[in-house]
Amino acid sequence: MSDNLTRYRERTYPPPYPDGWYRVAASGEIKAGEAKHVQCVGEQIALFRSKTSGRIAAVDAFCPHLGANLAHGEVKGDRLQCPFHGWQLDGNGRVCDPPHAKDRPLLHRHWEAIDYYGMVMIYHSARQGAQAPYRLPAEPRIDERELVYRGRYDAGEVDMHIIEFAENSVDFHHFSELHGTMRIPWTNIELPWIRILHEPSWFLDDALGHVAYFQDDPALEIRGRVYEKTRARALITFLGPGSIVKFEFQIPKIGEITMFQTHTPLEALRQRVFFRWFAARKVPRILISYVVGNWISQWRQDVEIWKNKIYRQRPPGVAGEGPLGRMRKWYRQFYPEGPADDPEGETGNGG
Ligand code: FES
Ligand SMILES: [Fe+2]
Repeated sequence: MSDNLTRYRERTYPPPYPDGWYRVAASGEIKAGEAKHVQCVGEQIALFRSKTSGRIAAVDAFCPHLGANLAHGEVKGDRLQCPFHGWQLDGNGRVCDPPHAKDRPLLHRHWEAIDYYGMVMIYHSARQGAQAPYRLPAEPRIDERELVYRGRYDAGEVDMHIIEFAENSVDFHHFSELHGTMRIPWTNIELPWIRILHEPSWFLDDALGHVAYFQDDPALEIRGRVYEKTRARALITFLGPGSIVKFEFQIPKIGEITMFQTHTPLEALRQRVFFRWFAARKVPRILISYVVGNWISQWRQDVEIWKNKIYRQRPPGVAGEGPLGRMRKWYRQFYPEGPADDPEGETGNGG
């Protein structure tokens, strides 16, 4: 895609990095005593894992002293030591005993970082250093190993803005148009005699302002006949701006799959996308592959649209109180620095 087109598209969108919890690595990528450099959400970050507690930490990659890359340093106990002059930082960004500046306690930029079911997540905010206003929820059934890790999928980099995933969930009209036909799971190959009858809905959490839900109860129509027995349920929970969403697939009589999908913006229109799922041991692998693969196939159809589109701030014929208007109003909370779009209609673009 030409740079001009990318720039043109980019200007139509809200800012690229809304406040939220972002996946920056797989937990297994950083063992105790290791460090790793990651770049995302417009930041350069050194992740490191304490040798003593095993806790993950995220600090600005460049040393506050003379700017060496801390990710190339060495983990000493629960501190990260700069490879250049040996300053040490703890996971809260405190510069401990700098040999050259003992008298001045220094605080280095850092992020709240956690391990969350195999994913390293950091809380990013446009207001640097802001505390996360909410935690990611515990999943008791995974904690108690009722659901266990069953697989993951690295979808690589996708040219889209992060808001598109939330926009998609309130755009009920595209479901029959774009997602009405069945595909062979994991592929784009259509099975023309099977239709998917979607029943989408979108609602907000009564208690948690940052949480929204999308639900679909699809059934299959095969050669013109609707099979109610095929009706399944997918509940998608937005834990913030779409940087991490949780899927709960319910398959009648068989069980459930819990899947996390994460979007990590590398640039305004480029996301790193990962999927990671959990299910009871007894759920057959082939069934999991069918359900997850179905979702991936549908998601790929959206990707084809997203990677070529722009953002319409005030689409004609769409009332503010409809699902799209309500979703966009909800989404604005993730831009505490300024509005994600302009409800007063004073300016052309949100970016
Ligand atoms: S640059 Fe890190 S201690 Fe000097
Ligand atoms: Fe879609």
